[in-house]
Amino acid sequence: MATPDIIEEEIRQKAVDIVPSRRPSHVGVIMDGNGRWAASRGLPRLEGHRRGVEALRQTVRAAIDFGLDYLTVYSFSVENWTRPVEEISDLMGLLKRFIHNDLHELHRANVKIKIIGIKDTLKPDIRALLEDAESLTQANTGITLVIAFNYGSRQEIVAAARAIAQKVADGRLRPEEIDETLFVQHLDTAGIPDPDLIIRTSGEQRLSNFLMWQAAYAEFVFLPIYWPDFDRQAFETALAQFASRERRFGGVTAHGAKVGTGL
Ligand code: FPP
Repeated sequence: MATPDIIEEEIRQKAVDIVPSRRPSHVGVIMDGNGRWAASRGLPRLEGHRRGVEALRQTVRAAIDFGLDYLTVYSFSVENWTRPVEEISDLMGLLKRFIHNDLHELHRANVKIKIIGIKDTLKPDIRALLEDAESLTQANTGITLVIAFNYGSRQEIVAAARAIAQKVADGRLRPEEIDETLFVQHLDTAGIPDPDLIIRTSGEQRLSNFLMWQAAYAEFVFLPIYWPDFDRQAFETALAQFASRERRFGGVTAHGAKVGTGL
């Protein structure tokens, strides 16, 4: 009988086989549907978020096994502050527990943690926790786990514009020096390549203020399952869909057909 190690290796191999040379380097995930998962079972929303953290844990493991270089997860948006205070407090508690319980294992697995989002307005304990996680793992060379926390893409773009404007006002930059390369250096994601694939669970098909600049040429996969049900198999399905897509980045196909004409 196959040992668990052999089974694990077979699963890993299967994922590699599905996407031979067409594996994304960077996957972004909009983890949606915790609340609906809980409601459909008559459970409190907190239980949905708890199971969501478990799905996140499995997703990071799978992303390592699949050989991804970057995994960005949308864990709390700037708009999420409009939720009831108890739910916000539950989500903050889950984040703290996730970092407390998993940080050392992530570190041992050579995972580099990077936080994107607005840090200034976070409670000092949360901010310190996030910054400690970043500094502990900063020299790691494995997958980069980007946690979007208190993140909003519009806010990120506005902050970049403001920082650039300040440099111009100070005489440190000339307007004609502003180009895409300079602009991306002022985003939270500076130094991180754009996502190749964005997965959203729960059946919703929108970006919800997530990586709007960076997703210009991302492929999108929308899965009709709630986030707590996202598992290795669902991840493989998304990777297989990605592998079947032809990415042209606004150019022409390998056969010379024009983009958008279907010819
Ligand atoms: C969306 O479900 C999910 C969130 C707003 C938060 C995502 C959070 C987790 C996966 C768990 C927390 C993880 C960390 C690291 C803090 P929803 O509540 O919008 O679900 P609904 O649309 O069905 O109501």
